[in-house]
Amino acid sequence: MKNLSTISDVRDTMGRPIRDLRISVIDNCNLRCPYCMPKEKYGEQYEFLPEEALLTFEEITRLAKQFVRLGATKLRLTGGEPLLRKNLPELVSSLSAIEGVQEVALTTNGLLLKRHAADLRAAGLTRITVSLDSLDEAVAAEMNGRKVGPHVVLEGIEAAQAAGLTDVKINAVVQKGVNEHTVLDTVNEFRERGLIVRFIEYMDVGNRNGWLLDHVVPSRELVEQISAKFPLRPMDKNYHGEVASRYAFEDGRGEVGFISSVTAPFCGSCTRARLSADGGVYTCLFASEGTDLRSPLRAGETDDELFERLCNLWRGRSDRYSELRSSNTDYPNDRPKVEMFQIGG
Ligand code: GTP
Ligand code: 5AD
Ligand code: SF4
Ligand code: SF4
Repeated sequence: MKNLSTISDVRDTMGRPIRDLRISVIDNCNLRCPYCMPKEKYGEQYEFLPEEALLTFEEITRLAKQFVRLGATKLRLTGGEPLLRKNLPELVSSLSAIEGVQEVALTTNGLLLKRHAADLRAAGLTRITVSLDSLDEAVAAEMNGRKVGPHVVLEGIEAAQAAGLTDVKINAVVQKGVNEHTVLDTVNEFRERGLIVRFIEYMDVGNRNGWLLDHVVPSRELVEQISAKFPLRPMDKNYHGEVASRYAFEDGRGEVGFISSVTAPFCGSCTRARLSADGGVYTCLFASEGTDLRSPLRAGETDDELFERLCNLWRGRSDRYSELRSSNTDYPNDRPKVEMFQIGG
């Protein structure tokens, strides 16, 4: 009988291992970015997951252990907005204690970061990524749907740095005609602060953001725009499966990244799985459905049984949505897809 307690190296149908598990801890958010949760569709009446539907920290930790057995080494907490989940440092601490976990990271919109940064760091958080689309008051307010200016997010970033989370990254989604004119400013400001910005092409995630290809600014246009002011040179990836393409500033003052899922898909090296707050496993950001793990978990399945489920799921994985879509411009965009806030990007 095979030894189920050691770390396996299961591959999917395209030879890809799992390395990165993104764990959504809550589906609710305190912002309403139109590209993710347009406020017309997610108003006061919208029902987010009730408390009892959310996996408890014990349940998340149990499942995370099985993902680590499968080959995951990096765990990233996401939402909605993960800092809306109460007592999050407790989860960070139990995930950090799992043998084989090299990193526990967090992607947040930063609004509550000032309050929580020190506790998260003390609990063992290794890295943090903050979403901020523009430093222009009006543009930022429009892009987060709640008229919140960048100041509070900048304070959160400073608090994270002060707490010892030194390599904070900034994620900025770029939308044509909305914030592309503020990109240089963003580059300049975060270069000065010694932080890495990654510009994300607006993606056709979910079915509710009204995505159109015309709204996408191809990363190569941004590389040209930025290079004209701050000359850039391409860099190697930090690790196999990294989604961002990295560029160094020629003057040696840091780097900038581009996540180009629309114009340059990276499915061939996709080593990520996503766990929704209610215990669904999604093997692609554009999946229609997840595989429910909460039911078997709550029905009393053993760790080995849960692990076998994950092995079978990963072995059968054949997702390559972005590649298929980019090679076929008529690819149907109306097929049901999970929403970004349900699986945290
Ligand atoms: P690092 O550990 O710093 O490399 O972080 P990361 O890039 O893995 O995590 P982050 O949460 O910052 O992800 C950045 C964004 O890239 C996500 O929010 C998504 O928008 C996008 N992204 C991440 N993984 C995938 C993926 O597998 N497919 C696609 N299409 N986009 C992805
Ligand atoms: N396209 C690209 N990025 C998106 N994000 C959310 N929705 C989209 C989208 N449709 C980004 C957020 C955050 C990360 C988790 O995903 O801004 O940085
Ligand atoms: Fe909230 Fe992030 Fe979605 Fe914006 S992109 S609405 S901050 S979950
Ligand atoms: Fe991975 Fe799906 Fe993104 Fe391709 S589209 S990189 S398979 S998550």
